[in-house]
Amino acid sequence: MPTDGATDDIERAADLLLRARHVVALTGAGLSVESGIPPFRGPGGLWTKHGEPPMNGYQRFLADPAQAWRERLAPSGPMRELWKTVQAAQPNPGHHALVQLEAIGVLGCVITQNIDNLHRAAGSRRVAEIHGNALLIRCIGCARRFQRDEIPLEDLPPRCPRCGGILKSDTVSFGEPIPPDVLAECFAESDQCDCMLVAGTSATVYPAAQFPLDVRQRGGALIEVNPYDTELTPYCAVSLRGPSGTVLPQLVTRILRVRGL
Ligand code: APR
Repeated sequence: MPTDGATDDIERAADLLLRARHVVALTGAGLSVESGIPPFRGPGGLWTKHGEPPMNGYQRFLADPAQAWRERLAPSGPMRELWKTVQAAQPNPGHHALVQLEAIGVLGCVITQNIDNLHRAAGSRRVAEIHGNALLIRCIGCARRFQRDEIPLEDLPPRCPRCGGILKSDTVSFGEPIPPDVLAECFAESDQCDCMLVAGTSATVYPAAQFPLDVRQRGGALIEVNPYDTELTPYCAVSLRGPSGTVLPQLVTRILRVRGL
């Protein structure tokens, strides 16, 4: 059971969410930790353990797309660890809580930095995947996306069935510009947002980290869900300290009670 202070925080957060006009959730790797996928930074982080990867992943892809695909299909080191956990992962109560908030009309959209498809797998409908989706393949020519199993991977790099362009995993590599369609969707949601639920992110990677700062700048409220302080903590109206798989369901319970549901 949460302590009195934590209960008060849950109540304050629920009140902010219920009074808001347009709520957006910004999520990161911490949301999927309870699904068995390690975070990148902080305790147990992949980059903490193995060091940050080179920032020129996209340039290396463009220089030799066939080799990049061979590495993608037979990953090593931290990427091998990441893909193994992503393939085995299932949504956790944190993902399901966001689905509930959307279903009762409190949450308008999820902007996620996660490439693990778990928000969609849980049933979230309005999801903007700013760093792409590991189950999708995208053409770097016409930007069209395909389900991974639609594309034969015998000849590398695979080619776009529509324009013949080079196909790449939809996940955004370091050094790659965020695809314009998803970036526009994120800004459209963030620009309308007056209350942002920032869950499981260190809020250090841009452009995603800009959204909560913009909301705060416009006088909106930030609610943080994270076991630890982050760079965003000083700007938050409420910081809910705990794992998102525990805290987000508590928030839903409180909101349903207030709504008499
Ligand atoms: N519940 C909620 N938050 C958690 C949990 C949990 N169970 N466990 C850890 N966290 C928090 C950590 O305290 C940390 O603040 O989740 C955050 C994860 O931060 P990062 O590992 O930096 O992940 P993220 O913010 O998503 O990284 C952004 O960086 O490396 C790139 O492309 C990668 O999308 C990623 C981006």
